[in-house]
Amino acid sequence: MIPRETVDKIFDAADVYDVIRDYVNLKKAGANYKGNCPFHDEKTPSFMVSPAKGIYKCFGCGAAGNAVKFVMEHEKVSFPEALKILAKKYHIEVIEEELSEEKIQEKQERDSLFIVTEFAKNFFKKTLQSTEEGKNIGLSYFTERGFRDDIIKKFELGWSPKKRDALTESALKSGYKLKFLENTGLTIVKKESNYNFDRFSERVIFPIHTLSGKVIAFGGRTLKKDSQTAKYLNSPESEIYHKSKILYGIYFAKNSIVKHDKCYMVEGYTDVISMYQSGIENVVASSGTALTTDQIKLVRRFTTNLTIIFDGDPAGIKASLRGIDLVLAEEMNVRIVTLPEGEDPDSFARSKSTQELETFINENEKDFIEFKAKLLAEDAHNDPVKRANLVKDIVRSVAVIPDKILRAEYIRSTAKLLDTKEEILYEEVRKVLRKNYDDNRKHFNQQTYRKTIQTPQIPAEITGVFSEINEKEIISYLLNFGNEIISYDENNIANLTVAQYIINEIKNEHLEFNNLIYKEIFEDYEEFFSSDNESIIDYFLKHQDEKISSVVAELTGPSKELSKKLWSILGGTTDLPGMRLYDTVPEAIDKFKLKIVQIKIKEVDKKIIKIYEQESEEQEKKLEELRQEKLKLNDFKIKLTNFTDKSALL
Ligand code: CTP
Ligand code: MN
Repeated sequence: MIPRETVDKIFDAADVYDVIRDYVNLKKAGANYKGNCPFHDEKTPSFMVSPAKGIYKCFGCGAAGNAVKFVMEHEKVSFPEALKILAKKYHIEVIEEELSEEKIQEKQERDSLFIVTEFAKNFFKKTLQSTEEGKNIGLSYFTERGFRDDIIKKFELGWSPKKRDALTESALKSGYKLKFLENTGLTIVKKESNYNFDRFSERVIFPIHTLSGKVIAFGGRTLKKDSQTAKYLNSPESEIYHKSKILYGIYFAKNSIVKHDKCYMVEGYTDVISMYQSGIENVVASSGTALTTDQIKLVRRFTTNLTIIFDGDPAGIKASLRGIDLVLAEEMNVRIVTLPEGEDPDSFARSKSTQELETFINENEKDFIEFKAKLLAEDAHNDPVKRANLVKDIVRSVAVIPDKILRAEYIRSTAKLLDTKEEILYEEVRKVLRKNYDDNRKHFNQQTYRKTIQTPQIPAEITGVFSEINEKEIISYLLNFGNEIISYDENNIANLTVAQYIINEIKNEHLEFNNLIYKEIFEDYEEFFSSDNESIIDYFLKHQDEKISSVVAELTGPSKELSKKLWSILGGTTDLPGMRLYDTVPEAIDKFKLKIVQIKIKEVDKKIIKIYEQESEEQEKKLEELRQEKLKLNDFKIKLTNFTDKSALL
């Protein structure tokens, strides 16, 4: 590996013009250079090199990139090889690092933890299924609870023997290292007594699976009823197990979640298993801890509809409310079902048929915010202080919902529910959003602008869904404010202008204008934009294509036929337009992307449904691919909505 600092040194030295002129005959053209493209056959030069931007671009074949990319493409070499070629040219010494020992060890360590966990899972399973002790105690417990054989096998339930070191001894005998048994928490090492205990001895075992079905941890339930023994013991956090990032049952539930476009969330291991057994397979558990953002994101890979099933205990429900706000912020539709007094999902599922269970859930599902408002309103009664807090609390839930229209709906319904004016709620929501926005903005300012909003790229195959009105807006920004700086970096080196920003975004995301005039203006602008804005406009105004000159005149002339929005941004003056452009230009670009992403998501959904209908052999693989794609798109969409929504408010 070439060390990071050396890579930086090479990049700094390799001036794009200086590198490319070794290969291509370049002629000066304004601030740029032009030549015949080395990547395709041509007689008139359409290959441009921009020293200011550090890039080359061919308008004929689309080849583009920086100096290193050029060497890679031209010499047909890999990235490190290209770096070495350039290092030679600029007399930079390259001393390669070995892939660090540490890195290799980390990987080996993780693999070892997986292997030892796999061993333990099989040990517990075998003990349950085929030893006298396991069958008599563990298996008969599960059977008495009503778990079917096929379900016990599917969830890979097990029994950890009474003998205090049964697993440890067996693992050591089979050659597994004590260190890994200790690091997975399976063995508790007692240095003083030189005796090592199994963590889970004398418990039934619930293995915890990753999304792909690997076991990374266990929950062990005691069968003793005394109050000294903790009912459940769980694996501690380890290199491979992060409690906050996993949901119990997700491996078994994922297909069904997609199929029903819905996920049920329950509290514990047995709730998941009983519901699954009674036919509701799209169910996961947070395993007794408060919901985390990572867990919600895990669900959101498969659906945006989450229904949380609570046992009827109001104190427990109130404690969980805060966590649910997190879910709303992740743009999920959250519903709540409360079960009758004294029931939990496990007992309830066992006493009902699948049909009855489904009917009950469907009839009792309540929208989360309404549910929360009602629950808290009962408490607040006529106490004005409590009521004020209640309003604030509800507003906080509403404010995190990224979708503006949905938010409006909630404001309407909660205003009614709380007997409050909508305007008051709006005002409160605005306060919260403004604060969130400011917080974000502070964070935002510390990074360079592009890094923050150049989120995952839209796949190359979707292009060209610009709507005319937005195209016009973008061209207006380009022409009127192209040279305005919208982002400073600390050292004043990587300042970004409106034109650079727009061009980067459109090119990088392979977006295209529908309207041919705007398209041509954009392309011409891109070619010239390193010269000053005035002369570009001058060029357009004198353009031989009369359509172009008149559009540009309209957008830049004294009549300023700009969109209403542009005018309001300027507030009739051009004072500090950069301040506002900082928000509005990215917002305009992001709106396009949003539209495109939404279309793409619909396409992926259609494909997923189709694959489900086909039942082909490769179904699982294809689905996983599509889910990955949807996940990326969803993440991208949420970033866009967050951004657009928040800045639109100010
Ligand atoms: N839990 C835990 N540690 C405990 C108690 C509970 O980790 N000491 C977690 C477990 O994931 C458990 C969930 O919280 O499944 C719910 O707890 P509880 O309702 O007490 O257990 P159930 O799963 O309902 O188990 P059972 O029906 O066998 O009593
Ligand atoms: Mn229970």
